[in-house]
Amino acid sequence: YSITVDPNTKGAKIDKTMYGVFFEDINRAADGGLYAELVQNRSFEYSTADNTSYTPLTAWTVSGSAQVVDDDGRLNARNRNYLSLGAGSSVTNAGYNTGIRVEEGKKYDFSVWARAESGTALTVSLQDADGTLAAARRVNVTKSGWARYKATFTATRTSSDGRLTVATSAATALDMVSLFPRDTYRHEPNGLRKDLAEKIAALHPGFVRFPGGCLVNTGSMADYSEASGYQRKRSYQWKDTIGPVETRATNSNFWGYNQSYGLGYYEYFRFAEDIGAMPLPVVPALVTGCGQNKAVDDPALLKRHIQDTLDLIEFANGPVTSEWGKKRAEMGHPKPFHLTHIEVGNEENLPDEFFARFTQFRAAIQAKYPYMQVISNSGPDDAGSTFDTAWQLNRDAKVDMVDEHYYNSPQWFLQNNDRYDSYDRSGPKVFLGEYASWGNAFKNGLAEAAYMTGLERNADVVKLASYAPLFANEDYVQWSPDMVWFNNHASWGSANYEVQKLFMTNVGDRVVPSTATGTPSLLGPITGAVGLSTWNTSAAYDDVKVTGADGNTLLSDDFSGDATQWTHTGGGSWEIQDGQYVETSDTAENTMVSAGDPSWHDYDLHVKATKKSGK
Ligand code: AHR
Repeated sequence: YSITVDPNTKGAKIDKTMYGVFFEDINRAADGGLYAELVQNRSFEYSTADNTSYTPLTAWTVSGSAQVVDDDGRLNARNRNYLSLGAGSSVTNAGYNTGIRVEEGKKYDFSVWARAESGTALTVSLQDADGTLAAARRVNVTKSGWARYKATFTATRTSSDGRLTVATSAATALDMVSLFPRDTYRHEPNGLRKDLAEKIAALHPGFVRFPGGCLVNTGSMADYSEASGYQRKRSYQWKDTIGPVETRATNSNFWGYNQSYGLGYYEYFRFAEDIGAMPLPVVPALVTGCGQNKAVDDPALLKRHIQDTLDLIEFANGPVTSEWGKKRAEMGHPKPFHLTHIEVGNEENLPDEFFARFTQFRAAIQAKYPYMQVISNSGPDDAGSTFDTAWQLNRDAKVDMVDEHYYNSPQWFLQNNDRYDSYDRSGPKVFLGEYASWGNAFKNGLAEAAYMTGLERNADVVKLASYAPLFANEDYVQWSPDMVWFNNHASWGSANYEVQKLFMTNVGDRVVPSTATGTPSLLGPITGAVGLSTWNTSAAYDDVKVTGADGNTLLSDDFSGDATQWTHTGGGSWEIQDGQYVETSDTAENTMVSAGDPSWHDYDLHVKATKKSGK
């Protein structure tokens, strides 16, 4: 077996930005995740419109009297609710997951907006079931109008089950009750959770696509104003997400919860800059997707969204003397963010309607900012006529770059390594904005790695690629698999994360074309461990039988109700056929493991190859 490489033949140039990340606020990736705020529902804005199980007091418990009020006494127009807390009463916040995480010796910054007619003293404390977690702080509310008050805690114990309590001696109005770890990523204010931000930074991604996904192009396209009736379930509109946090609107997240927008466009741009990645925002194109599939027919609204997109570019790149560049400077960043790529729309599956709007966005953007690359898309997946129609429209209109999305089995990724070999070299470039094989096991990482060699070989066509989704809080999962998992105190990368890291931290300059002869004998006599993932959709424990490619039984077990029994060395032989990874566990899938537990379980399958085989 031989591989022939000619160093004098130049293959495709590989852009440094080729591999990036796609951040969407799904699986509580933002609030309760990357956004370091520890208080859940800090401004009492949760609503049944976000999730039928919510009330404005979700995550809070009241001792004494308190009610959420929506009246003219509010903190500001876009922060509708506040809490009216009775004299001698208190409220306690439960944070995310099991509670508020604090670490011994570390500092935590508390802040609150409050007003009390004749002033009051607030007592603010941190505790868990075992007692106090920091010395309580007294906060004097001295003004009858809204004002912001602060206090700092130093944790005396480590706990992931903390609660924050605010008690008052006199009737007080409260809003924006906040607790941040001092130790955010790069110690930035309104910052990011350090371990999660560091996991993304360690990838050295070439770009950050944000903020979605289905998050962007679903719901109403209306603004959050009195005229529009302060609608919930709005598409992600960047102007909702900038400025002082207490002035930002909140919204119903497409994925079934409330999003505070504390992590907003300024924070996304800042993070991309911090980690040396190119920012790549996605704006709604006035055609809803993700099952909603409706073209919004409102020329005035379309005009407003196109203007908003031009304003976004000015916010990112404009001088501090411009209207939106000034706002960026006021938020702490006078220098531009160097935005060069923008995506309009996400997975619309009404190609003609989408295109009619996309081309208007593109014309306006390129008239004012000729240097901007305006990215289009090819619909929800790569099957069928929508994809073909969308691609044809993109080709005809000479679009710069087309976003493709697909989620498929590991086998599909192995079998489609050559997908881009035949793409038209003179057509639009490809942005593979979302892809993943279904699973977080070793075999999924392996299949994706194999696939990425095909992306890289075609780096003249595939210009950008990002795995999706990026994050999942293990207690709030809408979508799995995901690249990085976490709870309120820990985070861990999947096998897929390690693959992304391997590629992102080793981006080459050029493809060196190679040819191969023969079929490699990949497996000698070895003993090793192979990850095997199973998924039980049945309501009972079930047996598993793993059969080798040669038909021999590698492993079988009768669980008899005990899922813990199963780790042993099997007999038989393990083979790789014709240089291909063979999924010997096919027959075992859908038959595991604990009753009524529809989640992945990973086991080590210890195999011993008894003979060397190229077959
Ligand atoms: O990545 C999860 C979802 O998959 C995205 O929101 C959407 O674009 C795609 O359907």
